Amino acid sequence: MDPIRTDIRKLQSNGIAVVAYEGLGHPDVIPLWFGETDLVTPPFIRDAAKEALDGGRTFYVHGRGIAPLREALADFHERMLGVTLDLERITVPGAAMLSVVTALQCTVEKGDNVVIVSPIWPNIFQAAEIAGASVKFVSLTADWKSAPPRWTLDLDRLFSACDARTKAIFISSPGNPTGWTMSRDEQKAVLAFARRRGIAIISDEVYGTLVFDASKHAPSFLEIAEPDDAVFVINSFSKPWAMTGWRIGWLVHPKSLDEPMSVMSVANNTGATTFAQYGALAALSAKGDAFLETMKERCTRGRDIVQQFIGRQNRIRWVPPTGAFYGFLHVDGMQNSVDFALHLVRKARVGVAPGSAFGAARDPLNESCIRICFAQDPARLEEGLARIENALSTI
Ligand SMILES: Cc1ncc(COP(=O)(O)O)c(C=O)c1O
Repeated sequence: MDPIRTDIRKLQSNGIAVVAYEGLGHPDVIPLWFGETDLVTPPFIRDAAKEALDGGRTFYVHGRGIAPLREALADFHERMLGVTLDLERITVPGAAMLSVVTALQCTVEKGDNVVIVSPIWPNIFQAAEIAGASVKFVSLTADWKSAPPRWTLDLDRLFSACDARTKAIFISSPGNPTGWTMSRDEQKAVLAFARRRGIAIISDEVYGTLVFDASKHAPSFLEIAEPDDAVFVINSFSKPWAMTGWRIGWLVHPKSLDEPMSVMSVANNTGATTFAQYGALAALSAKGDAFLETMKERCTRGRDIVQQFIGRQNRIRWVPPTGAFYGFLHVDGMQNSVDFALHLVRKARVGVAPGSAFGAARDPLNESCIRICFAQDPARLEEGLARIENALSTI
């Protein structure tokens, strides 16, 4: 008898990885496929981590994060959202991805399901499947008729997708890959429904500060949830402070999970890397707040460049994102996004993520899209887009 779970044996690399493995490490490929800026982590953050290393901070620390970091995170929420959080609700288990895993461990067992608003970053639903849950996607709709086009979420469809085995609703807002931002009214409706039905909300807010309006932060479930609602908010240092390789993020969870969270954080990873936590602490300083503006400017410039590019195309359109740093580009006539992305990397030397990776197999919306990350050097981004345009003229 095979001791390995059959669902584990069946796991397959997602489409982003399949395409990226074709061109990773080739300097002539312009990489727009991953969710990261090309900016290196700012020096004041790197210096803080170096100082921690040189000061011998190489030992185990509190499994939920060093006290000054959790305190600084509480201050950050106060500054960004005007929300006061008890420290018992904040855990730094490692990367945001580990926060996703932890929230799923808290909620689902084999046979349960998670309802996910899609298109969605594939690692999320793969983590749900690894946790033993089945996944139900509720897809956003692109309203091309509105000016500008916008994403809409049909709440009735979301609610009717939930059944007796639904343990969590997963929402990524601002979303990867769409840049869709959930409104406060939608959040209130989802919270009321989830409370009524005893379903947890896992709200992935890793792009919360990357919004294209004057606000400091996209609407957050933390602004409307009570401390003991079954609401988990995922957040990360990766995106706003250009720290993807550091593998550090945080989780805000129900207050009643104070002690279980200590156990889970230790059991999963014994907390985040110690010296990385000192870098993260520096990110939460005044200099870090200023860097958030730098990132926002880079993303705004990138978004404008893509918008201008789209204006010149007759086969590509998009719903302009209201947050995050992705363009989910709809390519008319494209039927297989993996083939198209492979063609782009092999022939045009530009790396994009195939839309089909972002939800249910054969979802026609996703299959007709590619995702690019525009938090890039403007000249490189322009060149990458020009390569996509040239490739399109040949197929
Ligand atoms: C929606 C979403 N959640 C979570 C993550 C993971 O962040 P981290 O790098 O901290 O694991 C990503 C990274 O792309 C993401 O797009």
